[in-house]
Amino acid sequence: MPEFTHTGDEKKEFVRKMFDDISPSYDFLNHFLSLGIDIYWRKKFIKKIEIQDGNTILDVACGTGDVGFQILTKHSVSITGIDLSPKMVELAQGKARGKKLDNITFIEGDAENLPLDDNSVDCLTISYGFRNISNYETALSEFYRVLKPGGKLGILEFSKPKSKIIDIIFHLYFHHILPRIASFFSRSDAYRYLPESVDFFPSRHDICRKIIYSGFKRAEIHDLTFGISTVFIGFKDEK
Ligand SMILES: C[S@@+](CC[C@H](N)C(=O)[O-])C[C@H]1O[C@@H](n2cnc3c(N)ncnc32)[C@H](O)[C@@H]1O
Repeated sequence: MPEFTHTGDEKKEFVRKMFDDISPSYDFLNHFLSLGIDIYWRKKFIKKIEIQDGNTILDVACGTGDVGFQILTKHSVSITGIDLSPKMVELAQGKARGKKLDNITFIEGDAENLPLDDNSVDCLTISYGFRNISNYETALSEFYRVLKPGGKLGILEFSKPKSKIIDIIFHLYFHHILPRIASFFSRSDAYRYLPESVDFFPSRHDICRKIIYSGFKRAEIHDLTFGISTVFIGFKDEK
């Protein structure tokens, strides 16, 4: 029996409030609970999507902004980060001010109703945010709408590891160890929601199917670290 709701408006409100509440410890817990591997996964993700200098990038579900900041260490681009949680956006804005960056902007908004024109961005990234969206199909059609012809969608998400043994170890850590450690630092249900939301997330092939059904001409899957995380890339047609 699931503890949380994994679709609809109830999920959206729960997710917004949860990320507001956990925002002060979000960065620390991410790096601590993953032993820093989350940083490696974001770097790999950015490399896989092959961003070009001069691109306009939209980082959806940007959280505290780390994907955008990482992109700017390698590329000369302009980035907008958008997130549902006002507190996560505030933290991202504070980090941008601290780094004195003026080519990255953070705004509050919903992936399912993006405040952007059609065909306006070269690349749309979403890292560990897609799973948290209430309606995947609505978000994907928004992603398709705002991408320019020839634009790229990059999704980084947790997956089910392909090796049985890694799956057992990962399940044990994710369901039993991580929530107990996290409860000392943060809202405890957030770190029970995390493994449950990964269990409820569609398979790699279902995600690819959804990307294609949203209009993208092609989708790729790249597994990272035994398939614990996966990068999906959707390509919008040039025409
Ligand atoms: C796990 S965090 C990921 C943050 C960041 N991208 C990273 O890699 O650390 C998930 C983020 O998704 C945001 N989010 C969830 N649903 C959203 C939606 N419908 N629209 C925009 N952001 C959303 C949450 O507020 C949260 O900041």
